[in-house]
Amino acid sequence: MKSSAITGNFTEANVDALAIAVFKDEKAGSGALKELDKLTGGLIASVLKAEEFKGDSGEIAFLRFAGKGKNKAERLLLIGAGDKNEFKTADEAIISGTATRFLRKRNIKSFALYARAEGDAKEVAQCAAQGFVASQFELDKYKSADKNEKSVDNLVLCIEGADQADVEEGLRRGEIVGESMNFARELANEPPNILHPTEMANRAQKMAKETGLKCEILDEAQMEKLGMGSLLSVSIGSDQPAKLIVLRYEPKKSTGSKNELLALVGKGITFDTGGISLKPGEGMEAMKYDMSGGATVLGTMRAIGLLKPSIPVLGIVAAVENMPDGKATRPSDVVTAMNGKTVEILNTDAEGRLILADAVAYAEKQGATRIVDMATLTGAVIIALGDVNTGIMGNDQELVDDIIECGKRAGEDFWQLPLGKEYSKGIKSDIADIKNIGPSRKAGTIIGAAFIQEFVDKAKWAHLDIAGTAWSDSAKPHQAKGPTAVAVRTLLKLVEKSQ
Ligand code: BES
Ligand code: MN
Ligand code: ZN
Repeated sequence: MKSSAITGNFTEANVDALAIAVFKDEKAGSGALKELDKLTGGLIASVLKAEEFKGDSGEIAFLRFAGKGKNKAERLLLIGAGDKNEFKTADEAIISGTATRFLRKRNIKSFALYARAEGDAKEVAQCAAQGFVASQFELDKYKSADKNEKSVDNLVLCIEGADQADVEEGLRRGEIVGESMNFARELANEPPNILHPTEMANRAQKMAKETGLKCEILDEAQMEKLGMGSLLSVSIGSDQPAKLIVLRYEPKKSTGSKNELLALVGKGITFDTGGISLKPGEGMEAMKYDMSGGATVLGTMRAIGLLKPSIPVLGIVAAVENMPDGKATRPSDVVTAMNGKTVEILNTDAEGRLILADAVAYAEKQGATRIVDMATLTGAVIIALGDVNTGIMGNDQELVDDIIECGKRAGEDFWQLPLGKEYSKGIKSDIADIKNIGPSRKAGTIIGAAFIQEFVDKAKWAHLDIAGTAWSDSAKPHQAKGPTAVAVRTLLKLVEKSQ
C-alpha cells in the first residue's frame, strides 16, 4: 500500500478512480465539484438533481464517465459526508476508508482522493493515509478459502493549496499510524491458543527490535521477587506463565522536563474464563479480546518507535491468562500486591484490576509521572456507554481533559465518569485493606477504576475502560468488524501534545 501527494490537477492523476466527499445539500456549482462536474459532462449535477444522492453521511454514488479532459480515471466515487459544519479533520479518515473499502470490492487498485477537511494539511493527509491503511484490515488470517485477496494499492491525495512536502509527511505518518492500528488489531484478533502471554511477549519483542524500542520481559519469578502477588494470583490457575512486557522509548534529544515520564499500561488478559468465578459459556469466546488494552499499548508504542516524538514513553503490558484450575485463586483468598496493600479476592472474574494493580505500581516505580491505563475492565461500561464512548476516569482533571480533547481530534469519543471517597468506601474489605469488587451491581465501572487508583501513589493517572469500544460486532463502511485498536490514535495525539 502506497500513498502519495498530487500537486497538479487531481482529475489527471494516473489512477483508476476519482473520489470526493460531498456535503449534505451541496451543489455542483462551485470549487472542486464544479470542475469534476464539467469533466464528467454534468454527472454530479444530474445525480444531485435527481436526488439519487444527497450527501448524507454513509451515502455513496459510483459513476462511470467517458471523460472530457486529460483524465485517466473513468470512474467517480461520491461519498456522502453529512453536515459541512460538523465535518472534522479526523473524518477524512472515514471518507478515505469508506472509499478504499468500496473500491477494493470492485477490483479497483488505485484512486485519487480530493480532501475536503479544512484543517492543517499535514494532519488531513495523516488522517487520509491512516484511513486508507486501517480500512484494509480483515479478520480472515486463518481462512484457507474465501480470503479477501483484493487490495487498493495506491492512494493519491490532493489537498488544495497545500505544500507537497507537508502532505507527503502527513501521509508517511498516517501510514505508520494505520499500520500500527492494524498491528494492534492483529494481536487482538489472534485466538487465545496461539496468542498466550508468552506469544504476546514474543511479538512485543520482535516489534521492539524492528522499531528501535527497548524491550524487557519479566517472568513470574521476577514478578514474585517484586512482590506482585495481585497479578500472580490471576496467573496461578493457568498453565501459561504470565509475562510483564516492558517497552521503553527514549528520544535522542528530549524536550520537556527531565523528570517527566508518560507510561501507557495495558490489560493483557489473553483469555478470561472468569477463573473459579467462571463465566457463563454463552459469549465467552469474546474474552479472547480481553487483551485489547495490551494490544493498544503495543500498537501505540510501535507507532511511537517509528514516529520518534521528543519525549520518553514507557509501555507496560500485563500479559496473563485467567483460568479455573486446582491451583487457581478462590473467592475469599487474600493476596498482597507490590505496593504492600492486601486484597481480598471475592470474585476471580474481576481479574483485570488485579493485574493492573501491580502493573500500574510497577510503572510508577519505574519513574512514571503520568500513567494512562487501558483495559476491557467491566461489562458495566457497555451498559452505560455502549460501543460509542470509552469510559474515562482519573485522579487528575487536566490529564483526563487532555485525553478527551486528543480523542476529539483523533475521532475517538471518551466520556468521563466520577471517582471519589464515597465510591472508594465500596471496596473496603472486612478482613484485608481492600476487596476486588464493590456493592453488588452498583457503579461497576467506577468501582473498577477506584480499585486501580489504590495502586497509584503520586503519579497523575487516567483509566480508560474500553470494554465497549475495543471491538465492533459489525462491519462499518470504513472498517471491518472485530478489533478496533481503540485509543491508539488518541494516545499518539497525547504524546504529540506533550512534546
Ligand atoms: N473482561 C471482563 C469485562 C468485559 C465484559 C469486557 C464484557 C468486555 C465485555 C472483566 O474481567 C470482568 O469479567 N468484569 C466483571 C467484573 C465483576 C465481576 C465485578 C464484569 O464486568 O462482570
Ligand atoms: Mn473477568
Ligand atoms: Zn477480564
